[in-house]
Amino acid sequence: MMHSSLSHEWVLLIFFHGILLMCMSSCLKSATVPAIANETDRLALLDFKNRITQDPLQIMSSWNDSIHFCNWLGVTCGPSSKRVMVLNLTTKKLSGSIPPSIGNLTYLTRIDLRNNSFYGEIPQEVGRLLRLQYLNLWSNSFGGKVPANLSYCTQLRVLAVTYNNLIGQIPNHLSTLSKLEFLGLDVNNLIGHIPAWIGNFSSLYALGLSRNNFQGSIPSELGRLTGLKYFQLYGNYLSGTIPPPIYNISSIYYFSVAQNRLHGSLPPDIGLTLPNLQIFYCGLNNFTGPIPASLSNASQLQDLSISGNGLIGTIPHNLARLQGLVTLYSGGNRLGYGKDGDLNFLSFLANCTSLKTLDLSYNYFGGVLPNSIANLSTQLQYLYFAVNMIRGDIPIGIGNLVNLELLGLSDNYLGGTLPDVLGKLQKLKELYLNDNKFSGPIPSSFGNFTAMIMLSMAKNRFEGNIPLSLGNCQNLLYLNISSNNFTGTIPKQVIGLSSLSISLDMSHNFLIGALPFEVGNLIHLSWLDLSNNRLSGEIPTTLETCLSLEHLYLEGNSFQGAIPQSLKMLRGLEQIDLSQNNFSGNIPKFLGKLVSLRHLNISYNDLEGEVPSEGIFANTSEISIFGNNKLCGGVQELHLPTCTRKNPHSSKKFLACTQNKLLKSTNGFSENHLIGSGSFGSVYKGVLSKNGAIVAVKVLNLQQKGASKSFINECNALRSIRHRNLLKVISACSSIDREGNDFKSLIFEFMCNGSLDQWLHPKNDVQHQSKRLRFIQRLNIAVDVAYALEYLHHHCETPIVHCDLKPSNILLDEDMVAHVGDFGLANFLFEASNNPSKSQTLSIGLKGSIGYIPPEYGMGGQVSTLGDIYSYGILLLEMFIGKRPIDEMFKDGLSIHKFTTMTLPEHVMNIVDPSMFFVEDEEDIYDDIEEITIIEEDPRVNVSSRIKECLISVFQIGLSCSKASPDERMPTNVVVNEMNAIRDTFLKSKKKNEPE
Ligand SMILES: *[C@@H]1O[C@H](CO)[C@@H](O)[C@H](O)[C@H]1NC(C)=O
Ligand SMILES: *[C@@H]1O[C@H](CO)[C@@H](O)[C@H](O)[C@H]1NC(C)=O
Repeated sequence: MMHSSLSHEWVLLIFFHGILLMCMSSCLKSATVPAIANETDRLALLDFKNRITQDPLQIMSSWNDSIHFCNWLGVTCGPSSKRVMVLNLTTKKLSGSIPPSIGNLTYLTRIDLRNNSFYGEIPQEVGRLLRLQYLNLWSNSFGGKVPANLSYCTQLRVLAVTYNNLIGQIPNHLSTLSKLEFLGLDVNNLIGHIPAWIGNFSSLYALGLSRNNFQGSIPSELGRLTGLKYFQLYGNYLSGTIPPPIYNISSIYYFSVAQNRLHGSLPPDIGLTLPNLQIFYCGLNNFTGPIPASLSNASQLQDLSISGNGLIGTIPHNLARLQGLVTLYSGGNRLGYGKDGDLNFLSFLANCTSLKTLDLSYNYFGGVLPNSIANLSTQLQYLYFAVNMIRGDIPIGIGNLVNLELLGLSDNYLGGTLPDVLGKLQKLKELYLNDNKFSGPIPSSFGNFTAMIMLSMAKNRFEGNIPLSLGNCQNLLYLNISSNNFTGTIPKQVIGLSSLSISLDMSHNFLIGALPFEVGNLIHLSWLDLSNNRLSGEIPTTLETCLSLEHLYLEGNSFQGAIPQSLKMLRGLEQIDLSQNNFSGNIPKFLGKLVSLRHLNISYNDLEGEVPSEGIFANTSEISIFGNNKLCGGVQELHLPTCTRKNPHSSKKFLACTQNKLLKSTNGFSENHLIGSGSFGSVYKGVLSKNGAIVAVKVLNLQQKGASKSFINECNALRSIRHRNLLKVISACSSIDREGNDFKSLIFEFMCNGSLDQWLHPKNDVQHQSKRLRFIQRLNIAVDVAYALEYLHHHCETPIVHCDLKPSNILLDEDMVAHVGDFGLANFLFEASNNPSKSQTLSIGLKGSIGYIPPEYGMGGQVSTLGDIYSYGILLLEMFIGKRPIDEMFKDGLSIHKFTTMTLPEHVMNIVDPSMFFVEDEEDIYDDIEEITIIEEDPRVNVSSRIKECLISVFQIGLSCSKASPDERMPTNVVVNEMNAIRDTFLKSKKKNEPE
């Protein structure tokens, strides 16, 4: 549509210019000649000069008495009359108003002031210029009304006031101007109806009323203008149908009624009754019915724009006869049937060898893109199929259309991989592939797109790395590859494309690694979205040079460190989303000082300390800070605790359990020694006074229902189980604390490597950030946990169901051996075991941790060992994918289970956590270590097929364990055997590959 209205305007300009020149000769003839020059003319011209307010070209300097006024620049007198006949000051950069004394220049036949900056009203005194034939005020700033007195200028042939600010209606007096050949009132603010008397102007060949506020219907009297060539009414509020007599003005070759409220269908014989038609614009109305095939009889037709109506049917095949057709805009109709063969007409359009623009967008075209598009005119610059129902691949033949500048295929059902020949279209400036089903990689030939400005590939199934060659597209203003399956790191060549200014969107992919510091090259960019990937590390301080940034979205990654101070340079920021990362430290104060900031989301990080109160922080509906448990202060509506130096509760609960010789070394349960907490209570690190052994002390939260009652039995149960992969209980104690409250605690052996959760989802502390679990370590831990479950389920006196298996309940000792602990629902373990007869049928309601709870528990089902197997299955998937089951990406029905099912087996490497391969000295990961030279590359690319097979097997077990129906899940002993077998196979094949 943009293109359509643009070309309208140009045609309009060229057209008026042409007419004006054509008129010159005919207008020169008249003028009766008196004998002497007249003082009146000199005074009137000086008055005109006095009103000039700007004259940068010093045109008026010649207007002085040392020269006869007939020789003043822009003034032409009659040769013998010495009276002013022509006033021509076109394009002289003049500004000023026109004095009423212009009416004294009574010999004037032509006034040409076009293309200046004259303002004020057109004085009524022009009505005294009875000889006036030509009045051209095109492109000035005249206001007020069209002077009714013009009605006296009955010799007028040309009246052009296009591009001014005139208001009011067309005065009815003007009906006297019956000699008018040219009436151009376009682009003003005129209102009212189109007067029917214009139909009496029998010499009129150009009627321009476009871009005003005319309303009502088009008078059928206009059909009497049998010499009309230009009929230009677009951009008004005209309604009704086009009167049939208008379609009978066979002389018309420029017909534009676009952008009104017209309806009805186009006459079937329009091409026969308007045989001279070259330009036909009727877009943006409510026309219905089919596209008349007779248009093919208008053999001169060049531009056909019928976009934005309710036209039905298809593109008539015989339009192929229009060899001169340059543009065909038919977007936004109801064309096509959503069926195969809908686009067959494309093969006929191959005859339109001048075709430059073909717009079929926003219709119902179905079927495939025929390879015959290869035969379309090589002149084609603009090919637009967006928002249809087209399926299949992009035909290879598209590579023939070497002059294409725009290719729009978005919002269809296209698929397959992109043909490499696309890269041949080196003149492409805009390529829209978004919202389809394309898969495979971005061809590296995209690096040929050095003219590309807009590239949109969002919402497809593209995969693989972002090719470095995209960095060659140094004219890109807009790049959107969001919502695909891209993996690997962000190439610095691409993030550093300094031309990007509109938007860079890579969100919702599987990108890993750090944000390259070259992001600082994006000095013109206003929209940056890298959200929902797997990016990590700190935000580079170079971001501070992106001074045009208004929208910054980094949420849903694993960024860490402090929110960088350097962001305070970005004064234009309006929206910031840093949520769901691992940002830590305080909320920087400058965020409250960014005056443009309208929305801030920093929720679900690890931020602490005081929330500022000023700026955006005063507007609680526009900030989100949830999920940062160590925040305090801020405005009252946030209901955060007030900020104090110390937690008053921590020191009070002094451990009073001395009969067991427990110790003070938890420092009165100070926060420094807190190593974990949850609804069940808190776990502290301590030292046994008896032998100095380091222990974990779990202090139960007795407010929790049932905790106290089951405590003793629970202790017994825990003491009676012993297994290498279960967390060992050293002691338990029950007592009264100093304030007289019940106090109960359990003492466990201390696990120096913390929980599996900390390893899978590392936070930003020095202790954890460099830690990564290698593939074999993950496999070992998975086998350990399986052993623990097998013990609980099959080798205890009564089967024990854990009910809360999840990474934070799996502890790792100094040798990275896994120990399943009870930090989640220890009492549960006991409840399930205290009564042998009920051990597998106890109804527990919804217990466990979201994401790991088997579906049957949620539906009031029974606790069973198969419930633990479900949690184990989810755990396996999480361990090797590196995403929690409650990760943001798993929503709208896409669970971690379903996600895995969809990718197995071919795409297994797309979903595995790449960090397990980030290990320098692990020769067992890669088939050939020599090949790994490109640092930016995703480490998963070179992983050996041996590991891939292993991963597939692990995922298959994970899937089998996490089936929705308990009956379909693998029993515990089978799980143990299978997991063991996978590890054995892996280790054996490794040995085999090793040279002796
Ligand atoms: C000049 O022309 C005007 C209008 O045509 C007329 O009224 C006036 O008498 C003329 N003056 C002279 C000095 O000829
Ligand atoms: C005015 O002058 C320009 C050139 O300066 C010319 O193109 C134009 O045709 C003239 N207008 C008339 C009405 O003579």
